[in-house]
This record gives sequence, C-alpha cells and structure tokens, in this order.
Amino acid sequence: MKIEDVKNICVLGCGIMGSGIVQLCAGLGYNTTFYEISDEIVKRSMERIKGSLSRAVEKGKMTKEQMEATMAKIKGTTSLKEAAANADIVIEAIPENLELKKKTWKQLDEICPKHTIFASNTSSLMITDQASATNRPDKFIGMHFFNPAHVMKLVEIIRGAVTSDETYKVIYDLSIKMGKVPVEAKDGPGFFTTRFICYTIAEIIRLLELGIAGVKEIDTMVRLGFGWPMGPFVLADFVGLDTIYHVLEYCYNETGNPAYKPPMLLRKMVIAGYIGDPRQKPGSRGGFYEYFNVPREQ
Ligand SMILES: NC(=O)c1ccc[n+]([C@@H]2O[C@H](COP(=O)([O-])OP(=O)(O)OC[C@H]3O[C@@H](n4cnc5c(N)ncnc54)[C@H](O)[C@@H]3O)[C@@H](O)[C@H]2O)c1
Repeated sequence: MKIEDVKNICVLGCGIMGSGIVQLCAGLGYNTTFYEISDEIVKRSMERIKGSLSRAVEKGKMTKEQMEATMAKIKGTTSLKEAAANADIVIEAIPENLELKKKTWKQLDEICPKHTIFASNTSSLMITDQASATNRPDKFIGMHFFNPAHVMKLVEIIRGAVTSDETYKVIYDLSIKMGKVPVEAKDGPGFFTTRFICYTIAEIIRLLELGIAGVKEIDTMVRLGFGWPMGPFVLADFVGLDTIYHVLEYCYNETGNPAYKPPMLLRKMVIAGYIGDPRQKPGSRGGFYEYFNVPREQ
C-alpha cells in the first residue's frame, strides 16, 4: 500500500490525543472513524473536536466551510467492528496499558483487512511487544504524536523488530501530509522522547518532595531560567498524571533504572484521583496546582 491508496482511517480512543489525531485525519479529507467506550464519551469527544475547530475558525486559521467539511468526515462509534472494518490505517490512542492495548490489537487483527496498517501512539510501550499480539508485525509501527496532536510539529516514528519499509513509508508520508516533522527513534521502553521527559519530570517531583522549592516556584524557574514554554508541573498536568505514572512504572520495570521509579507523591495523587488538569482530563480532581492549592496562571 502507498499513501495514495489510503482513504479510511480509524482512531481508537478519542481523549486528549485521539481527538487531535481525528481532527488531523479528517482535516486531510480522510473518512475518519473513531472508537470510544460509551455513547456519552462519543458525544463528548465530538463536542471537544467541534470546540477545537471553532477556536481555529475564530482565530482565522480555517473557514467555517472547512470546519463543516472536516466535521462531516468524522464518525464516532462504540462498535470496534464498525470503526475499524474498512480502515486502511488504525491509529491507537487508548490508555497506556500494555495488556489493554494487546487485547485490542488482537481483536482488530481479526476485524481489519489484511492490508491495514496498525500504528500505536503509545508514549512508552515497546512496539515489538504490541506487534506480537497480531499476525501482522510487519504492518505494525509506532506513530508518537505530541500534545496537542493537531498543533505540535514532531512525530516520533518507531519501527518494531520486523516493521516493513513499506509500512514505514506510508506512516512517514502521512506525517508529512499532516504538516509534521517525522523523526525515527529505535524501539525500547519510552523510545527517546518519553524517556527524556519522564526522567526529568520524575526528578523534578522528587525535588518538590524534598521541599527544595514549590510548584509555582519550580515552574517559574524552569520557564525563565531554561526557556521552556511552560513549567514542568503545568506540562505534567497537561499530559495527564496517570499517563506519566504508568510510563514511569513501565520504564522502571523494564530497565531497572531507579531514575524512573515513580515518586511516592505522584502515586498518591493518581490513586486519589488527581490525574491532571481538569480542563484536559474530565473527572480529574486536579493536578499539581489543585493538589497544592496554587492558583493557575496558564
Ligand atoms: N497525553 C499526552 O500528552 C500523550 C502524548 C503522546 C502520547 N500519549 C499516549 O496516547 C495514549 C492515550 O493517551 P491520552 O492522554 O489521550 O489518554 P486519555 O485518557 O485522554 O484518552 C484515552 C481514551 O481512550 C478511551 N478508550 C478507548 N478504548 C478504551 C478501552 N478499551 N479501555 C479504556 N479506555 C478506552 C477512553 O475512553 C479515553 O477517552 C496513551 O497511550 C498515551 O501514552 C499521550
């Protein structure tokens, strides 16, 4: 298959990342279906995408007609079969849990045509391992977007042990069509970007635990001292603390490197329902800012 042959794309999960990916695919004119776990979440996801497109119209980045054309290309469903049966590419953005992802890929392997490419947006879970749940490891690849997916330029592409050149080329070309800069990294827990950022965030949480500085003070120092566009706690709350926790746990178990051991504070927060910025994570009690009662500026 070549990129010109791709007509239908299925996105699994329409949360923080999935909603941005759906928007990108539909914006390119692909028939885009997404799978979600309840009718309520399908409805909420549609509203989230519509809200994001409306803001783009308000800012003059697209016309109302383009917004309507994009929305007309999107269909959400709670049936995995309906979402994926005609897909040329499936892009997965369900929670960061290896067993859940492998179970889902196994089901999809039965549902999808033989030519369908499976691309995982996982932040950390090894591509070779996920691919082993299917009978098409040559058509399995990592396509790691950044948050917000419809804005951030980088796509980290990861080949599994037996991903074919043809699969790589289709996903590379799709990334270019989306206006992204694809960069290849090797397979391994956390690839490059996630190992880099989660290592850094875990150490910063440990400094907070030690009382070296507070949430707002650390964010200000990192922004103004190192030129980050946002502080590490605003970033962590934006990414989702449950996702960071699962990634750290996985990288720690796989590598044995204590630098990835999830800090106790993070564990406590996630268990208590503090899983990130409530504007990003519906149902969250909050992130670091809410947990420590610090007013948000960003
Ligand atoms: N948040 C980030 O900044 C970021 C960045 C890059 C990659 N990722 C990766 O993207 C994936 C999704 O992360 P997210 O931040 O969008 O998470 P999220 O919690 O916002 O969204 C996940 C969605 O998947 C849905 N879902 C679909 N099938 C499901 C199932 N079988 N069981 C449970 N939920 C199911 C959930 O209802 C939810 O809407 C993860 O693998 C994560 O590591 C996240």
